[in-house]
Amino acid sequence: MRMYDLIEKKKLGMVLSNDEINYFIKDYTEGMIPDYQVSALLMAIYFMGMNEEETLALTLAMAKSGDMLDLSKINGIKVDKHSTGGVGDKTTLVIAPMVAALGIPVAKMSGRGLGHTGGTIDKLESFDGFSTKVDKEIFIKNVNNIKIAIAGQTANLAPADKKLYALRDVTATVDNISLIASSIMSKKIASGSNAIVLDVKTGSGAFMKKEEDSFKLAEEMVKIGNGLDRDTTAIISDMDQPLGNAVGNSLEVIEAIETLKGNGPEDLMDLCLTLGSHMVKAAGKAETAEEGRKLLEETIVKGTALEKLKELVDAQGGNKLFVDDTDMFRKTKIIQPVKTNDSGYISHIEADEIGIASMILGGGRETKDSIIDFSVGIVIDKKVGAKVSKGDVLAYIHGNDQEKIKIAEEKVLSAYEFTEEKPKERKFIKGII
Ligand code: URA
Repeated sequence: MRMYDLIEKKKLGMVLSNDEINYFIKDYTEGMIPDYQVSALLMAIYFMGMNEEETLALTLAMAKSGDMLDLSKINGIKVDKHSTGGVGDKTTLVIAPMVAALGIPVAKMSGRGLGHTGGTIDKLESFDGFSTKVDKEIFIKNVNNIKIAIAGQTANLAPADKKLYALRDVTATVDNISLIASSIMSKKIASGSNAIVLDVKTGSGAFMKKEEDSFKLAEEMVKIGNGLDRDTTAIISDMDQPLGNAVGNSLEVIEAIETLKGNGPEDLMDLCLTLGSHMVKAAGKAETAEEGRKLLEETIVKGTALEKLKELVDAQGGNKLFVDDTDMFRKTKIIQPVKTNDSGYISHIEADEIGIASMILGGGRETKDSIIDFSVGIVIDKKVGAKVSKGDVLAYIHGNDQEKIKIAEEKVLSAYEFTEEKPKERKFIKGII
C-alpha cells in the first residue's frame, strides 16, 4: 500500500477502505509516513469528507493505536461522560460523585487544561495531596470499592490521535466534523466504558459556535459510539456565557462542592442533572431519564453525593476536610471587583474572554509545561439577563499580581455586552440525541 494512492483517492472523493485507514494510522503512529503526506490526506478529507464507515474505521484505528483500557474487572455497567469543553465547566466534579452515590461505577479518565479552557485533572489537584496518577490496579480497586476513581489520561491513550491532532492544529484541518468526532470518540472507546454520555457545547464559548454544527457533531459522535457497541447519548447545551459563576481551578471546585450541597448555580445544576440522568438510565438504574433525575436529586438532598466526593478525595490522597471547610483551599492575596461603565441588560458574556482572563491570572496553561496557580480566577456576579447600572459589580477577580489583574479586568469588561431591551431567554439545553 502507498500513502500516495490514498491521497490521490481521497482527492478524487473516493471512499477509503478499512485496510487503507488501518494502514495509514498504524504506519503514521510508528513514524513510517511523513507529516507532509498525512497533511495532504487530512486536507483532502477536509474537502471531500468521510462517510460513516470511514469515520468508524478511523475512530477504531486511532483507539487501537495505544492502550485499550480493560475495565472488565469492574462490576456493573461502566458509564463515561465527556464534554467538548468550555469555560467554567466543572460538571464532572458534580456528576461523578452523584452518579457513584447511586452505586454506578464511574471509572473516569480526564484531561488537563490547555489554553483558556480548564481540565478536571487540574481542578482536582486543587485539593492538597490529591493524586491523579493512579496505578491501573488501584484505579480498578477503588471503582469496585467506592464506585469512583478519576485519573489523568495515560500517555499511551490513542497516540495516533495525539499525533494527528497536533498536525491538524498547524494545517488548518481541525474544524471538520468527522475528524473532530473520530478524535474525541477514539479516546472514549479506548477508555473502556460500556456507555457514553456526551455534553456537546454550542455558542461563542464552544468549539462549535453554530447550533447547527453542534447538532451535526453530536449526531456523528452518537453514530460512532453506537456503531462501536457503546450505548451513546449526546446533550447539546448552551455555552454562550460561562457555565455557573466560577472560572479558575479551586474556585470551580468550591462551586462544585456548593452544588453538591444544594447551593449551586441553576444552569450548572440543571446541566449536571440532565447529563447525569442519562448516565443513570444507561447504567440500568432507572427506566427513564426523568426517574434518573429524581434519584440524583435525592443524592443532593440526602448528602450522599457530597460524602462520595469526600471518599474520592480521601482514596486518592487528598485532604477531604477541604470539602467541609472550603476556606482551606489556597486563597489569593487580592479579590478585586470589576465594575461596569455601562448600564442596561447584559445580553452576552464572551466565555472565551473570561477563560483567557483566568489564564492570564495564572489559572491556565499557555504551554503544556506552564505551572498553574490553583487559587486564581474570576467569579461572575452578573450573568446574561441581569439589569445593571454604571458602577455595579459584574465580577470579582481573584489574583495575586496587580499587573495581571489589570489586564484580566480589561478582558472581563470587554467580554460583556449590553442592550436596552431585556434579552429573550435562551434555551439552555438545546437538544438530546
Ligand atoms: N477535542 C478533541 O479531542 N479532538 C478534536 O478534534 C477536537 C476537540
